[in-house]
Amino acid sequence: MIEEELKLRALPDLLTMEDGTKVTEITQWEKRRVEIREILDNFYAGIVPPLRAKTKGKVLVTDEEAFAGKAVYHHLDIELDTVGGSFQFCAHMALPKHVSKPPVFLYISFEPELVTEFSPVEEIIDAGYGFVSFYYQDVAPDTDSRFLNGVAKLYNRNPFDSWGTISMWAWAASRVMDYLQTLDFIDTERIAVVGHSRLGKTALWAGACDQRFSMVISNDSGGGGAALFRGKVGEKLQNFNHGASKYWFCGNFLDFAENEEHMPFDQHFLLSLVAPRNLYVCSAALDEWADPVSEFLGAAAASEAYEVFGMKGLVTPDQFPKAPTSLHEGQIGYHIRKGTHYLSRYDWNQFIEYRNLHRC
Ligand code: GCU
Repeated sequence: MIEEELKLRALPDLLTMEDGTKVTEITQWEKRRVEIREILDNFYAGIVPPLRAKTKGKVLVTDEEAFAGKAVYHHLDIELDTVGGSFQFCAHMALPKHVSKPPVFLYISFEPELVTEFSPVEEIIDAGYGFVSFYYQDVAPDTDSRFLNGVAKLYNRNPFDSWGTISMWAWAASRVMDYLQTLDFIDTERIAVVGHSRLGKTALWAGACDQRFSMVISNDSGGGGAALFRGKVGEKLQNFNHGASKYWFCGNFLDFAENEEHMPFDQHFLLSLVAPRNLYVCSAALDEWADPVSEFLGAAAASEAYEVFGMKGLVTPDQFPKAPTSLHEGQIGYHIRKGTHYLSRYDWNQFIEYRNLHRC
C-alpha cells in the first residue's frame, strides 16, 4: 500500500544519477549526494555563502546548581569572525551532572528563554541528555525584513539562489556545533539537531548540510520539511509566497508555486541527505496543514538512501500509522501522536527513547 501510494506521488527518483546510472553502492551514493545537495542549494534553501566563520564561544554566566542542582548551566555568547564581518548571538547550555560526557540535543528555539513551552529542559537533563539552544531570530529576523538584518547582511545576495532565512538559521546551528566540538565534557559524536515546524524544516537542512550531527529530528515540519509536495494536502508551495515565509527559501523555489510536479526534487531528497545517520520525523494527527501522511511518506521514500548502506530506513507495517504509533526500529524513526501542531513532552520522550535505543 505504501509503495502504491508512493507511485501515485510520481516522485523524482532518488537513486538515479543525472547521467542515468542507478546508485547501488556507497561510492556512487557519495556522488549522488553531491548532485542532490546541488539541486537543493539551487532550488530549495539557497546557496550557503562561503563566510568561512571562525567560531568562539564565551561563557557569560554559569550556574553550577541549575535545575535543583542536577545540572550545570552556561549562558554562552557565540562569536563569529567571518569574511563578511563579525556577528554574535547567544546560546544556552545545560548539562546533567550524573552523566559524564552526555549526548546533547541542539534545539533551534522559537523563544529566547532556556525553558519554554516546547523545551522541557529538566526532564531532558533527568534523562541524561545535555540541552543546548539558541533563539532563531537572534540570527535573522523572521519578518518581512527584506534581508536587511542579521547574518543576511554579511553577504551580497541575488533573488535566485541566495540563501533564505531557513538556511541562515541552519548555518547558525552549525556554528553552535563548531563550539560544541571543542568541548571535552560532552559526547561530541552524539549531538542531535531538533526543531519544530519552520524550525523542523531548519533542523532538516542543518542536518543535511552538516554531517557532524549524529541525528536529525523534525517535528511537524510539514511543507518544505519532511512532507512530500507532490500530492500534499494542506499547505502548498504557493502558500510560502507571502509575509515572512517568502524569505525562508531561495527565490528559485517560489517559482514552482502551483507547479510542484515540475520541481527537480521532492522532500525525500532533503531527508536522504541525512543518511546513513539517524533521522527522526514526527507528525501530529490533527496537523492537517503540515499533512501527516505526506510527512510519513517522505520518510518512507528517503529509506532507499539507507538501503544503499545496507541499513533499514523506516521500518513500518504496510499502512499509514494511526496515532499514537511510534516506529523506532529503523535508522529512520517516526511517530505520530494525537492532537495538534505542537512540540510536546510526549514528543521529547519519544526522541529520548529512540536515542537510548540507537545510542545516537
Ligand atoms: C505556518 C507555516 C508552516 C510552518 C508553521 C510554523 O503554519 O505555514 O509552514 O511550519 O507556520 O513554523 O509554525
